[in-house]
Amino acid sequence: MIVREQPFLSLCLTAGYRNKLPVLRNTFLQMRRGEILGLIGQSGSGKSTMALAILRLLELKGGRAEGSIYLQGNDLMKMKERELRALRGKQIGLVLQSPLSSLNPALSIGTQLREAWKAHATGPSFDCQASIAAALTNVSLPAHEEFLHRHASQLSVGQAQRVLIAMAVLHRPALLIADEPTSALDVITQAEILGLFARLNRELGTAILYISHDLLSVASICHRIAILHEGDIVECGSTEKILESPQHPYTQKLIGALPATPSRAKAARDGDPVPQRPVRAANGKAKPTVAYEDTKGFARRQ
Ligand SMILES: Nc1ncnc2c1ncn2[C@@H]1O[C@H](COP(=O)(O)OP(=O)(O)OP(=O)(O)O)[C@@H](O)[C@H]1O
Ligand SMILES: [Mg+2]
Repeated sequence: MIVREQPFLSLCLTAGYRNKLPVLRNTFLQMRRGEILGLIGQSGSGKSTMALAILRLLELKGGRAEGSIYLQGNDLMKMKERELRALRGKQIGLVLQSPLSSLNPALSIGTQLREAWKAHATGPSFDCQASIAAALTNVSLPAHEEFLHRHASQLSVGQAQRVLIAMAVLHRPALLIADEPTSALDVITQAEILGLFARLNRELGTAILYISHDLLSVASICHRIAILHEGDIVECGSTEKILESPQHPYTQKLIGALPATPSRAKAARDGDPVPQRPVRAANGKAKPTVAYEDTKGFARRQ
C-alpha cells in the first residue's frame, strides 16, 4: 500500500481588497516539509497578498481571503484569533523587505529580541539569553552585550536583516515566509543573506516560502519554484525543470528576460544573434544556461 505524505502546507485561496476584482482566484499551492519553495511573480501579481493571507493578516490591510490553508494538517482559516496569535512567530516566522523600518527605532536590539522570546516562551532569563545567543549565532551576528545594546540606527541594513531573521527563527518555526527579503540589500549582502537562508533550511530544517521577482536569486536557493501570474499558479516544479523546460509563456518570458551573461551582452553589442534561453543541446534536451550554471555554483558554495 502506498501511503502518501500529507503536504506540509496546502492552500486554495481567493483573496483581494474591497471594491476590487480578486487578486488571487482559487489559487492552489502546496509545500513539502523542509523545502525552500520560491514564489515568483511580477509586481502586483499577489505574492504579498498570499503571504499575508497565510498569516491571516490580510484584514489589517483591508483585504479578505476565502478558502482553505492547511499547515501540518490544521486549517488556519478555521482558527480563532487567539490561536493564530500563538501560531504567528512560533510556527510561522515572517521576514519582510525593509529591515530598518521593521525594527522599532526606540528599543535596543536586545529588548526587541527578548520581547520576541517572551511572546511564546516562559522561563528563567538564562533560557531567554541562551535562545537569543543561539539565534544570533545562527545568523552569524555577535551575541555580546555591546551589540545587544545597539539600536536599529546603529546597524547596517544587512545586520538589521540578520537581526530580523534571528527574531523570525528564535522559536524555530516550521515555516518561514520571506517576502522579498533581499531587495533592499546590495548584491554582496544579498548573496550572504541567501546563503544564510540556505543554511537555516539545511541546519534547522525550516521550510521557507521565498517570495521574490528575482528568478536568479530564487533559483540559487530554492528546491522548487511556483510561478504566480494573473491570480493563478501557472507553473510549479523543481528549479531545474522550471529553468530548463519552462512550459507557460509567462515563465518562458521570465527566463528570456534574465540578465545578460557576458557572452550574451557581447553578442548583443556586436550585433550577433543573441543565444536564447534555455539553450537546446544537440540531443534536443534543454541545456542549463550559463546564468543557471552560475546559480548552481552559488548553491554549492553554501
Ligand atoms: N491594501 C490594499 N488595498 C487595495 N489594493 C491593494 C492593497 N494592497 C495591495 N493591493 C493590490 O493588490 C494587488 C496585489 O498586491 P501585492 O502587494 O500582493 O503584489 P506583489 O506581488 O506582492 O507585488 P510586489 O512584487 O510589488 O511586492 C495589486 O494590484 C495591489 O495594487
Ligand atoms: Mg509584495
